[in-house]
Amino acid sequence: MLPREALRVCVIGPGRLGATLVASLRQADIVVSAIVPSPAAALDPTADPPRLLLRDAVALADVVWITVPDDEIETVAHGVAAALPRPLERPVAALHSSGLGSLDLLAPLRGVAAGILCLHPLQSFAAPGDAAVLRDVPMAVTGDTPADVAFGRWLAERLGCRPFELADDAKPLYHLAAATASNLFVALQSEAGELLAAAGVPPAAAAGLLAPLVATTAANVAERGPSRALTGPVARGDVGTVRAHLALLAGQAPRFAETYRSLSLEALHLAAPRLDDDTVRALRELLDREEGRL
Ligand SMILES: NC(=O)c1ccc[n+]([C@@H]2O[C@H](COP(=O)([O-])OP(=O)(O)OC[C@H]3O[C@@H](n4cnc5c(N)ncnc54)[C@H](OP(=O)(O)O)[C@@H]3O)[C@@H](O)[C@H]2O)c1
Repeated sequence: MLPREALRVCVIGPGRLGATLVASLRQADIVVSAIVPSPAAALDPTADPPRLLLRDAVALADVVWITVPDDEIETVAHGVAAALPRPLERPVAALHSSGLGSLDLLAPLRGVAAGILCLHPLQSFAAPGDAAVLRDVPMAVTGDTPADVAFGRWLAERLGCRPFELADDAKPLYHLAAATASNLFVALQSEAGELLAAAGVPPAAAAGLLAPLVATTAANVAERGPSRALTGPVARGDVGTVRAHLALLAGQAPRFAETYRSLSLEALHLAAPRLDDDTVRALRELLDREEGRL
């Protein structure tokens, strides 16, 4: 049975997610017994929470939460397994938070830790330490056993998140979806900023100018779903405007036209049921022909 009373959590990897978890755990009145920074970083046993070596931190913890970069998780799990006493004096749960990575990254701890699970917040943490960014966020829970999942759900709820169970073999596609929604969206904002710069807008002003448009679009998608949130020339079947956009893109970096064409075809897929057949054909030919794909 994993402990739920007087829980002591050690966070290994105080980066963007790890430092946010530290703040969130403390806000939830859960003790962060230690932080383990990267081997190159300074330790400080007098800090609150103390920054300790892995072997000292693990000795104090009921939950070992590994928030290092994905490629490092398995190596750190080996280190945790080596640091834990055998047999365990108390049940210890081991967690990672990779969206893509399997529970197998914690394989070195199987048969050692009492619980093996992953808690992946479906959120973007661009800066460390702001607990508010974690509040009310969906949290994917993956566990080796039903008891591990139950513990993960409980912990996610304590952090003010909305837990949902995710099968280990579903994680790669789940993560692809998350990266598409968040990371590729950021890349699109960067392209929009460069196009504004080509129109003479100072780069520093671009994000602020685009902010209301972006916020309303995101709210519309959340409220109405992508199909009913779509506006603009493709949604209207406005062939002339799409032709004008493509002509403009001929004067820009070729990657912008590639992005425009492929995402406009995706928009056309959404809008097609509401457009007449001739308009759909005209738009598809225009968007495909420009790439020489016909
Ligand atoms: N950021 C997000 O939006 C987000 C969202 C969901 C899930 N995640 C997951 O969270 C995990 C961490 O991602 P992140 O974005 O927070 O990464 P990050 O900002 O790069 O933080 C990683 C932290 O781990 C430290 N570290 C590296 N190797 C270590 C080691 N051997 N021992 C102890 N600490 C070590 C790094 O220290 P140095 O900087 O000194 O190297 C850094 O503080 C990943 O599994 C990621 O998939 C991230």
